[in-house]
Amino acid sequence: MFEWRRVSKFKLTPLEWLLVAAGGILLLKTLGPKLRSYAVTDARTFNAVGDIDYGDDGRTSQNLISDNPTRIVLLGDFGYDRSPSVWWDSSTMAPIRSSGIPIIPIIGNHDNSSQYLKIFGLTSWNYTRTLGNVRFVVLPARPSLSSIESKVKAGQNDPNIRWVIPLMHKCIVTPKGSHHPPEISINFHKMFMKYSKVKLVLQAHNHNYFRSVKNGITYMVVGTGGRTPYNDASDLWTKVHLTNVYGVLKCSTTSTNINCRFVDNSGATRDSFSVS
Ligand SMILES: [Fe+2]
Repeated sequence: MFEWRRVSKFKLTPLEWLLVAAGGILLLKTLGPKLRSYAVTDARTFNAVGDIDYGDDGRTSQNLISDNPTRIVLLGDFGYDRSPSVWWDSSTMAPIRSSGIPIIPIIGNHDNSSQYLKIFGLTSWNYTRTLGNVRFVVLPARPSLSSIESKVKAGQNDPNIRWVIPLMHKCIVTPKGSHHPPEISINFHKMFMKYSKVKLVLQAHNHNYFRSVKNGITYMVVGTGGRTPYNDASDLWTKVHLTNVYGVLKCSTTSTNINCRFVDNSGATRDSFSVS
């Protein structure tokens, strides 16, 4: 009987229920847009790919923009030897520009440096970008170890930064690819190992997909933008190797993890992993 009395205290008349419902609707209308805007600004996602070409008839561009990421990371070789302006304005890359999604570009060996600087509104290929708790450090074609280390160190010492992600076209760590890493790469790898916030490195140049883990750092090769695939082999560090595939790496960040998937241009997820 006691239970019944306690519950009955909260019994409402139909008019009272109506008032409660109206109050709820009013609250949702007031807070809804704020909550939606918070959700949008708090979303930290980036899609990345390099070695973009006509090989997949523009589907790489559609894959890059389809889920409206916060940033697009272009890992170099934007269009090979074609005129950058023609490629950018009227070809398969045009949807990326039309999307209005901010781009983080990295110079590739087939790219016309001065023309692409102009297209992307940059003054240098050696720069950093911050996305939430991530600091991207972009490496130019011929990076200086000390210059890159100072940028990595700044990210490491910034309390608002959880991860420092170096971005480059040519590979520092890659399996036995068509393009072997240069000798100097070992110096960069050793430098990255000194900084605990470097857990993920994005690269391209070899036209396939590799995920390798070396000394706790995940090195990605995402040269799957449409150029003819290479028939490369795995090595000791390789966790996943996909060839004859075109697709995009899609990552999202939380306060504790970076969660990534490799999505091929048919929409299938071919690999997924997290770094923390
Ligand atoms: Fe390349």
